[in-house]
Amino acid sequence: MTAHPSDIPGEVVVTAQPESSVALTRQRFEMTTRSQESIDFVSAIWDRLDQRPWAPPSLQGTMMYPGYDGGQEWGGSAFDPATNRLIVNSSEIGAILQLYEVPAGFSARAVYAEHCGTCHGADRAGNAVGPSLIDVGERLTGGEINDVVRNGRGRMTGFDHLDEIEIRAAIRYIRNPEEEEDLPPSTEVDYAFGGYTWLRDQDGLPGNRTPWGTLTSVDLATGDFDWQVPFGDYPQTVGQGLGSESYGGPVVTASGLIFIAATPDRKIRAHDTRDGAALWQADLPAAGFSTPAVYAVDGRQFVVIAAGGGRMGPPSGSEYIAFALPESQD
Ligand code: HEC
Repeated sequence: MTAHPSDIPGEVVVTAQPESSVALTRQRFEMTTRSQESIDFVSAIWDRLDQRPWAPPSLQGTMMYPGYDGGQEWGGSAFDPATNRLIVNSSEIGAILQLYEVPAGFSARAVYAEHCGTCHGADRAGNAVGPSLIDVGERLTGGEINDVVRNGRGRMTGFDHLDEIEIRAAIRYIRNPEEEEDLPPSTEVDYAFGGYTWLRDQDGLPGNRTPWGTLTSVDLATGDFDWQVPFGDYPQTVGQGLGSESYGGPVVTASGLIFIAATPDRKIRAHDTRDGAALWQADLPAAGFSTPAVYAVDGRQFVVIAAGGGRMGPPSGSEYIAFALPESQD
């Protein structure tokens, strides 16, 4: 597919974009059908974006589907040698690729000093007016910090009136002051990546049509799918089977079972390799954003998952949870 030129000064795009003949997710954004409210909310954002496939990063904002993480994630996939099938989990959510112009002389430290330092102290240690922001990134999630800074909280008014680039710089600075202090003020106009933004509706659910995540069995000889089923749910949609983003991969056993966690509804599941049917699930104390391991002790099989959570909202965890398989399934 031919690429579109960039309108950012100095930016040159490649002449062609390769496209795979095997696409595990849709390649084009399809508007949510969840409710009129969701459609209105998402359309207001979507309408202003450059929606051409493979459009380059822009100041206007570029639609990316699937989003930054895919598609397929770092959890990888599982190979079933008995059937020559690849088992793959995929996320279906769009993202916004937004650039911001950074004026000459701009620095995150200067934004902090101008807008935040009076109440939180030049050294971020707090003063009589505002609390200390030292290590704030360990107390609050990125989303919570974002919310306080934009909308205010208690005696702090929101900073919604600042330029996007300033809000983001202030947040970057309080989360990672050392990193930002090492950067000298820019000497010429620059372009900054606006950060990993997903196109979600007013409830934080994907702005595209379901399924929001799938599990697929691919015949490696032909590239055809044997089956593709919705996979996972969000905390807001538990049990509805609408699919969700997933971070972490599957394993497949010789007996024809797929074990996978990876979803924000904090489940670990077993699926049937033959048709993808869900056979079993259990709750985890925190989401298992990791890949399970299967092992045997004295002839008994176990599956273990690291339930660390820590992404897509609380809770975080630090436990490994092991399940024993019935011995008849060895
Ligand atoms: C007019 C004073 C004032 C200014 C200016 C101000 N803040 Fe605050 N900020 C506060 C106060 C007071 C609180 C405590 C709010 C509460 O009572 O919950 C606070 C809380 C916060 C928190 C939550 C801290 C926590 O541990 O819960 C963050 C994050 C924060 N401010 C960031 C910023 C940033 C970034 C700026 C600059 C863009 C800024 N603030 C500018 C007064 C201010």
